Amino acid sequence: MTPPLAERTEAPAVLARCRDLVRPALGRAVATLHPWHAEITAYSLGWEGPDGRAVPGAQGKGVRQALAVLGAEAVGAQAGSAVPGAVAVELIHTFSLLHDDIMDGDETRRQRATAWKAYGTGPAVLAGDALFALAVQTLAAAPGGSCAPAVRLLSGALGDLVRGQADDLLFESRPWTGPDAVRPQEYRLMAEHKTGALLGCAAGLGAVLGGAGRTETDALTAAGRHLGVAFQAVDDVLGIWGDPAVTGKPVHSDLRRGKKTYPVLAALTAGGPAAQRLGALLRSGEPLDDRAARQAAGLTEEAGGRAAAVAEADRNLERARACLESVTLAPDPLADLLALLPYFTARTL
Ligand code: IPE
Ligand code: MG
Ligand code: MG
Repeated sequence: MTPPLAERTEAPAVLARCRDLVRPALGRAVATLHPWHAEITAYSLGWEGPDGRAVPGAQGKGVRQALAVLGAEAVGAQAGSAVPGAVAVELIHTFSLLHDDIMDGDETRRQRATAWKAYGTGPAVLAGDALFALAVQTLAAAPGGSCAPAVRLLSGALGDLVRGQADDLLFESRPWTGPDAVRPQEYRLMAEHKTGALLGCAAGLGAVLGGAGRTETDALTAAGRHLGVAFQAVDDVLGIWGDPAVTGKPVHSDLRRGKKTYPVLAALTAGGPAAQRLGALLRSGEPLDDRAARQAAGLTEEAGGRAAAVAEADRNLERARACLESVTLAPDPLADLLALLPYFTARTL
């Protein structure tokens, strides 16, 4: 029996319901991996062992699997039809983090050593590759007639994800100011690709596997992509002002590496004395030490970069809402989707 609306619209409850639905299939998929890859995957997913219990605080929130499940329900299908898509996006997400932490040189995630620190770079790369293959295999084996469009959607998102990661890395060596500086529109596209593509794919896959037509699938995909930009703007804020004890990730890693993040880009274009001092501090192009990184964070806030990033996140949340409300979706799953929206920007500092 479908629970009444009031009981369905709390974000943690929505996430838990979707996680419980997907978890058995995710466990079965991971169990097919080479034991070495299964172990690294279980570690990355915050599991005690390949089929074990959750390690407290070491698990992701599962927003991608939730978007897939809700995408299917929103187009009037059974939640179960989305499961292969939900498993695929969680596997791809895990693969992308395994490789991302190597590229970013980050040593902690979810309060623990990153997989490359715990197992070595080679094994972490290889486990990521195994997850990539397993995701495609899982989706290609989905029952029903929607495999081909589903795999097309996933492969398109993967192309965008690696494109975004490439720009993220290339932007590190671009100057902060002057004619070659990264423009806000370039940042936006990079964030949409590296983070939005998979979130959009998750929601869109739910719709495709649920048998939806083009209009609903496109609206759900677009909503997820906007959510990705919102999520990334907040992730950038957390990377500067977040408490590592809460975020589980290092602070100032982006600043030290010269990552082009929204708050700093917005601060530099704001004008005024703080923006000018920030520009002077960053202009050398040298990696920042701890003191310089703290100073850059202070000047970014003073110049309004933090507030601008939060406003950018809110704008994208509203765009996601508008996409969801532009088509006819089943009311209860739509309420669940809308309940999840603030969750993308209200993560703890
Ligand atoms: C990660 O981007 C995007 C992908 C893994 C594709 P970030 O590098 O900005 O994310 P965090 O801060 O490490 O999670
Ligand atoms: Mg990273
Ligand atoms: Mg990165």
